[in-house]
Amino acid sequence: MSAIAIGLTGGIGCGKTTVAAIFESLGASIIDTDGVAHELTAPGGAAMAAIRAEFGARFVTADGALDRAAMRELVFEDAGARSRLEAILHPAIRDESLARLERAASPYALVAVPLLFETSTREGGGEARGWLGRVARTLVVDCDERLQVERAAARPGMDAERVRSIMRTQWPRWRRLQCAGDVVWNGAGLDALPPQCARLHARYEALAR
Ligand SMILES: Nc1ncnc2c1ncn2[C@@H]1O[C@H](COP(=O)(O)OP(=O)(O)OP(=O)(O)O)[C@@H](O)[C@H]1O
Ligand SMILES: [Mg+2]
Repeated sequence: MSAIAIGLTGGIGCGKTTVAAIFESLGASIIDTDGVAHELTAPGGAAMAAIRAEFGARFVTADGALDRAAMRELVFEDAGARSRLEAILHPAIRDESLARLERAASPYALVAVPLLFETSTREGGGEARGWLGRVARTLVVDCDERLQVERAAARPGMDAERVRSIMRTQWPRWRRLQCAGDVVWNGAGLDALPPQCARLHARYEALAR
């Protein structure tokens, strides 16, 4: 059985992971593209042979994972290297995510793509253009920017300045909302989420039928 895909997105700290967990408790399959990327570059991950061949052993840790700190530094200053990394990772992420969609034992799956809209309008498209063309509907988790900073900065290793600098690489709130098929508003307490998710869950199940 193959599930239809609903694209889940939202700015940093808006509540994508929180919302995905609620949908999962309702019976939806969740495909987290960041999680897939992480698995592909974990020790012995499926992308590691290609990364070693392309970039050399300097970017592979002793246990065979991607050396994230070294790679982050490289792609920060070298756009060509970023493209070469993306050329390896994006098709692999897409293939693995689509395989999970094929296997999903639910009528629809939420595919979490943090930059669903941003990368789809980037020159050349990139992988997420594929996602926007592949999803039956888009769902944006939304809250105001002040709450985004507050919530995301509370994470270990994060601070408000770092959150704001990541937000500058993402679309502003109004632009995401303009593209949204559906919205979960996460500007209040956690108990405001389940009713919104339940309503959408019923709609997505109907859409899949
Ligand atoms: N309505 C809420 N009230 C209070 N805290 C919340 C609420 N929603 C989410 N949070 C908390 O805010 C933080 C960010 O939420 P979450 O991890 O779901 O966001 P995200 O969009 O997945 O972030 P990222 O972009 O970093 O993946 C988490 O610690 C979460 O527990
Ligand atoms: Mg998250």
